[in-house]
Amino acid sequence: MAETLVLKVGGSLKQDSLEAVVQAVESALGSGKSICVVHGGGPRITAALEKHQIQLPFVDGQRMTTPAAMEIVEQVLKDINREIVQQLLEAGLPAVAVPVEMGVLQASPVPGLERTARVGGVDTSVLKQWTGDGRVPVIAPVAKGSTGESYNVNADIAAGAIAGAWQAERAVFLTDVAGIYKDFERGELLTYAAVDDLKKLLASGSFTAGMIPKVGAVLEAIARGVHHAFVVDGRNRKAVTWAVSSDLNDSGGELPLGTRISLHGRDKDEFADDAV
Ligand SMILES: Nc1ncnc2c1ncn2[C@@H]1O[C@H](COP(=O)(O)OP(=O)(O)OP(=O)(O)O)[C@@H](O)[C@H]1O
Ligand SMILES: [Mg+2]
Repeated sequence: MAETLVLKVGGSLKQDSLEAVVQAVESALGSGKSICVVHGGGPRITAALEKHQIQLPFVDGQRMTTPAAMEIVEQVLKDINREIVQQLLEAGLPAVAVPVEMGVLQASPVPGLERTARVGGVDTSVLKQWTGDGRVPVIAPVAKGSTGESYNVNADIAAGAIAGAWQAERAVFLTDVAGIYKDFERGELLTYAAVDDLKKLLASGSFTAGMIPKVGAVLEAIARGVHHAFVVDGRNRKAVTWAVSSDLNDSGGELPLGTRISLHGRDKDEFADDAV
């Protein structure tokens, strides 16, 4: 069976994200993988909410969403979804939009955050069917509640949950920084990290803002059986190719161009050198 990959495209990549997603999907399909794309929308959602004079607080990197704000969030995400699908189709790649109404993501509402939810369940049937047909599903991070209402889900958490439920071999997070930094201020980048190292860093406060749910999504994906997660800068073409196409069985040789996370890091013994 083809190796499966979930690609998360960060909303903070702005205009570069469309080129990055085309490159990543080309590279994945070119190396015989099945791929689905999950996208965020952070900065554009913020801009749209500002235009409507709505300000929503962030709690641990997660935006609180009122029902009125959710309508705007959903519209922005639908626009971004359409743009990504269009860009892929124009590049000759067989993308297909996954309508929110299909309910791939089921909401588990977060108390106190109104229409912000975590992922309660994932219906992977449509993903399996479409990727099996050689297509590339493109998914917005909107989850459905028990009566069909829409919830805002952090895109990283959505991608991690989808990767876990789909039992993807690899989850790749494209963002606007080189990877996960042990110390963001001092610029200390993690290259090969083990799950335990990330847990320690998370507990010690190394991550702020959007990196908190991103690391949470990586941990969740690996806990559910995803073999490897990558966090790389989507503007760096070499890093995108490394994350999407590097040989996972080959632990030596390849130059790390971002952060690769697996259960035990690069290699249990070798990793001891740069242990956290
Ligand atoms: N330790 C850290 N290492 C790397 N980035 C960090 C760290 N701590 C905080 N950050 C911040 O996390 C940001 C990435 O998360 P962010 O949620 O903003 O982007 P994204 O997930 O790519 O986009 P979106 O949320 O719109 O989908 C970086 O731009 C950086 O400012
Ligand atoms: Mg984010």
